[in-house]
Amino acid sequence: VTDVGIGAIELYFPQNYVEQSDLEEYNNIPSGKYTIGLGQQQMGFCSDNEDVVSISLTVTRQLLQTYKIPTDSIGCLVVGTETMIDKSKSVKTALMDLFPDNSDIEGVDIKNACFGGAQALLHAIDWVTVNHPVDKKNAIVVIADIAIYEDGPARCTGGAGAIAFLICPNATIPIDRQFSACHMKNTWDFFKPITATASEYPVVDGSLSLASYLEAVRQTYTHFMEKVARHVTGIDGLNSFDAVFFHSPFTKMVQKGLAVMNYTDSHLRHKDQNGNGVENKLDANDRAGMTRMIELSSEVWKNKTDPYLVFNRRIGNMYTPSLFAQLLAYLASDKCTTEEHNILFFAYGSGLASAIFPGRVRQTPNLEKIRDVAKQCIKRLDSRQQFSAEEFTKTLKKRENFLHSNEFPKVPKTSSESSLFPNTYFLDNMDELYRRTYTLH
Ligand code: ACO
Repeated sequence: VTDVGIGAIELYFPQNYVEQSDLEEYNNIPSGKYTIGLGQQQMGFCSDNEDVVSISLTVTRQLLQTYKIPTDSIGCLVVGTETMIDKSKSVKTALMDLFPDNSDIEGVDIKNACFGGAQALLHAIDWVTVNHPVDKKNAIVVIADIAIYEDGPARCTGGAGAIAFLICPNATIPIDRQFSACHMKNTWDFFKPITATASEYPVVDGSLSLASYLEAVRQTYTHFMEKVARHVTGIDGLNSFDAVFFHSPFTKMVQKGLAVMNYTDSHLRHKDQNGNGVENKLDANDRAGMTRMIELSSEVWKNKTDPYLVFNRRIGNMYTPSLFAQLLAYLASDKCTTEEHNILFFAYGSGLASAIFPGRVRQTPNLEKIRDVAKQCIKRLDSRQQFSAEEFTKTLKKRENFLHSNEFPKVPKTSSESSLFPNTYFLDNMDELYRRTYTLH
């Protein structure tokens, strides 16, 4: 099989959002810190009647229906998420309800902060490469998270969303996963320990997470370029790619990530007479160094990354889907309507796991359909419902109350009519054994 990769895409995000400028005012923060300092415009959020299973059900059903995918054509379904509602039972098992006549579907959940989605994608590509020649079956990848933080400086960097991919041969967006290069390290920058009092919020060391992210960009890009150089001739660093996508906790982080990648790129390509890389003079941890790197990368930023951050700016950090939302924005643009295009993905998950892998956009008969879906998703951003910062804060309190209440069955306080787009699954109730049931709105 050739060109294994993404053959269909769907994106789901919640109907509710809050303006970052309202949050600045509500939190008594100097105006501009969230909007300019972090580069975020709005933040999507789920009420107490949505969880990782409901948003995964919604996006998977959407994918199957939009592209008329027969359920018996699927042989593998992998979920990438860090939103845990159970320490044993996979989100994947709940998605089997959408495949009533086909139980021969491999795959469970993959977890490591925002990186699980990328690993799920690579895993599904491997599965299709090995299995498609045998029985012609394809795979589905579901990437979903609800990102929420306790009250404090990290709360404005939340978000929520879910993406589903069909993985097949001769794909519109093949992933050249043989070139994937990693940087993996034991780091305590962001984690979700099991504690006596259950919480949906992570423990975060903000500054360590920023430094770890930038270090991961430098290391993965170096490993990636070394690997590519061993196997491909004529590769010209970042010049070889039409668009470069990053895990996006907030878009200013992406700008810094690209600045480091661009600097590493020029540094790797300019060798001295002995073939060694020229000494790296700028330091990303020093403000002046970072400012200079951002200046040096301004053209690449303007042409290859910034235009595709629309979902990231307006929904926030969706954790695992944040990286792949940029692919949708790219497909919605007019950039990829002719010829074959090369794209690059940087995946990062705290703890930490990171990787870079390349992909392509091919002119297949399916491309127009995928582009239509992507354009509709961008339009749907405008049909969301705005809430005040106070209402957003009350909603997070409702989620805490739902988690901690001891009245069974637990029933969410929010009505589906007031908080959901049509055709969205919602959490109906939780019984005394903490078993959850869902209904389609
Ligand atoms: N106008 C414009 N910019 C401003 C203003 C203002 N009035 N006030 C501050 N800023 C700028 C700051 O200069 C800074 O930008 P710079 O560092 O580029 O100069 C930016 O706004 C943020 O200000 P900080 O003081 O650094 O913010 P704080 O420390 O309060 O919180 C943080 C930021 C650490 C990102 C926090 O939101 C957080 O912990 N988030 C979760 C962790 C995270 O997302 N990590 C990223 C990788 S891991 C992951 O994906 C989860």
